[in-house]
Amino acid sequence: MKPILISGIQPTGRLHLGNYLGALKNFVDLQNSGKYECYFFVADLHALTENPDAKDLSRNIINLAADFLAAGLNPKKSAIFQQSKIEPLQELKWILSTLTPISELIRMTAFKEKVLQAIKPAEAKKITKEKFEKIAEGTNFGLAEYPVLMAADILIFGGQFIPVGHDQLQHLEFTRTLVRKFNKKFGKTFIEPQALLAKTPRLMSLDDPTKKMSKSRPAGCLFIDDSPEDIERKIKTAITDSGSEIKYDPKEKPGISNLLSIIAGLSGKSLEEVERGFSGMNYGETKHSISDYVSDYFSSFRKKKTALLKNPAGLKKILQLGSGRAAKIASKKLLEIKNKVGLL
Ligand code: AMP
Ligand code: TRP
Repeated sequence: MKPILISGIQPTGRLHLGNYLGALKNFVDLQNSGKYECYFFVADLHALTENPDAKDLSRNIINLAADFLAAGLNPKKSAIFQQSKIEPLQELKWILSTLTPISELIRMTAFKEKVLQAIKPAEAKKITKEKFEKIAEGTNFGLAEYPVLMAADILIFGGQFIPVGHDQLQHLEFTRTLVRKFNKKFGKTFIEPQALLAKTPRLMSLDDPTKKMSKSRPAGCLFIDDSPEDIERKIKTAITDSGSEIKYDPKEKPGISNLLSIIAGLSGKSLEEVERGFSGMNYGETKHSISDYVSDYFSSFRKKKTALLKNPAGLKKILQLGSGRAAKIASKKLLEIKNKVGLL
């Protein structure tokens, strides 16, 4: 049997180039390698932790399904499904939560970042432990539980390989710890999952290359369904560095290095090769050439996505079929887990 590979993306808005290079492109490449049994899902339950408007959430679920398919995920090759349709997840999440100290959850970087979003950045920098705890007490519990649900997502399918961006590594480490704890107490049940990082696991923001590109800072995002005009404008105004040399040097030249890493990630070329390709050009010419490349790269994606979104019922159907298949597998695994735990 092929090793099991699984990953999800939250339907919290349009996908940016960081999501694509850190996750979605890798999903497609790994699916097409034929080496894995693949599961890819819309992490709608995780998205609920942001308390979205119901209509927005439904629209984002369909929109993400369209992104998956337009980018090349194929329901004939992979199980493509919706997290909220997998009911056994809830029971596994509960079992795993009983093995999780609260202290581990509130120490997670992603949780801390979410909590601190409630206050001004300058204030967040010098926050005391007491003040942090006070704010954390008022945050929704789902945000703290987030990694337990993510561990359940992986373990309910026996996931071994998990393609994610850099910001998810801590959650995977948490999952591995849980696996060791569970196996020690109840006997070998799960395999410790391993992260598969893409070539560009941490793309930086266009408006501030010292911060990662993130849906929570739309000003620095290049969305993968942006029009060619928007792509051109955003790359043209992307922050670059002093000097004029085109060089990959993330310390001294974080702006241009970030743009070069976009081309390396999309083309599969090495950074040296990309750098050489731009030698002799100035910043303006380089940016122009990069925006043409990005625009061309996503041209067929844009067309496919527009066509897919004309038939939302078709997209729903694909999710439904995938969810049905995945739920069956999850139910089987849950029985095995409940037996191990002693829930006769
Ligand atoms: P999310 O939107 O949080 O569900 O993220 C979806 C996937 O994109 C996850 O695997 C993230 O690790 C990845 N990701 C998010 N932001 C970036 C970024 N700036 N660079 C690379 N990968 C990213
Ligand atoms: N937490 C991931 C993110 O924000 C999404 C996700 C949920 C996930 N469950 C998962 C990724 C399981 C990999 C495996 O990007």
